[in-house]
Amino acid sequence: MSGLRAIRGDIVHFLGDPADLGADALAHFPDGLLIVRDGLVAGLGPAPDLLPKLPAGTTVDDYRGKLVLPGFIDTHIHYAQTDIVASYGEQVLAWLEKYTYPTERRFADPAHAAAVAEFFCDELLRNGTTTAMAFATVHPASVDALFAAARKRHMRMIAGKVLMDRNCPDFLRDPADGGDAESKALIERWHGRDRLLYAVTPRFAPTSTPAQMALAGRLFADHPGVYLQSHLAENEREVAWVARLYPEARSYLDVYERYGQLGARSVFAHCVWIDDTDRARMSATGAAVSFCPTSNLFLGSGLFDLDRAQAAGVRVGLGTDVGGGTSFSMLQTLNEAYKVQQLRGQRLPVERGFYLATRGGARSLYLDDRIGSFDTGREADLVVLDPAATPLLARRTAVATTLAERLFALMLLGDDRAVAATHILGEPAWRRP
Ligand code: GUN
Ligand code: ZN
Repeated sequence: MSGLRAIRGDIVHFLGDPADLGADALAHFPDGLLIVRDGLVAGLGPAPDLLPKLPAGTTVDDYRGKLVLPGFIDTHIHYAQTDIVASYGEQVLAWLEKYTYPTERRFADPAHAAAVAEFFCDELLRNGTTTAMAFATVHPASVDALFAAARKRHMRMIAGKVLMDRNCPDFLRDPADGGDAESKALIERWHGRDRLLYAVTPRFAPTSTPAQMALAGRLFADHPGVYLQSHLAENEREVAWVARLYPEARSYLDVYERYGQLGARSVFAHCVWIDDTDRARMSATGAAVSFCPTSNLFLGSGLFDLDRAQAAGVRVGLGTDVGGGTSFSMLQTLNEAYKVQQLRGQRLPVERGFYLATRGGARSLYLDDRIGSFDTGREADLVVLDPAATPLLARRTAVATTLAERLFALMLLGDDRAVAATHILGEPAWRRP
């Protein structure tokens, strides 16, 4: 992380949202050089111009022929659900009971938590994801395990202990006062340490009592810079359940707002079944959506309306939602996002897709001043994509004539096999064998 390093390749990043800036949003250096000093971006430009200016002996990673983008940002994932990815047959509420709660129970054992956290962080890196916003479980040691594994790899990680004190098995029930005290201790221990940030994590409105919802809102308000993550309006049955549990609320979103959980740095996964009033409230308060297409399709939840969210000015990032989601790969997540848009009669332009996976995700997390682009001073997390990673990708990209076509082929046909390398703060953190 110290000193100077340079990365050479076909470099692409976003200067802003393609929805606002059009073609000007994308910066492209076909033979580019990214200069990193002490882990931060110090320069970017054409390699032939910049190479002669580098001090002799500077390490240059040569990725010519490959695309170099800012590391992917996964705005919603459950590390404790790694072992139940691809569990058959249920929609979300039954899926939680049948698969999720039993697997999360195992995180009472810190050794199990540590082993899964190590695998999880490696799997993120293998997929080019350098920042994630993750749920742990109700067990405080599960948060310690995840933050320790991320810290060892110098990754950015936002995570928190799940809060749930009703409508869940006894073995995961977390009394409101105890969960509150444990969350405070975890904030003290981890928030702002190296690249780690804490998120207050009420699982979703049905599994918290009003007392716990109020405490979660207070934790969020009382700790500046701390995040809040939850689930919102994923499934129609779940929405109907929330209406029965909170009859006083105008909508599911309104439950979170009533308990002080809506604002900058609060992130709600799914948001499939929300209305225009909800969108306006999210936009006005600065809360963000995590769009989780592989999960929404796998669990049969529904089709998120990206265009309506965008039109309302809501911040949106992409989430894999493993283990409800079916892939750690943000490329596969984009693939399915594209198809969700198609089923809605909408389009997902390739530039907007990669923006959402990088700078847009960073913006949804209020981290675009730190990550998500190669603007000078940003933390130099990056992914190297191989447009010829598989025989089919190689054939398809051989006849591609534009950058957009190559990126689109990666978005539809790519997965972990297309990730040639991942760098954290400039340094290689993973290289494909
Ligand atoms: N709603 C509440 N908890 C969960 C979860 O773990 N996964 C998904 N997809 N939805 C949820
Ligand atoms: Zn989730």
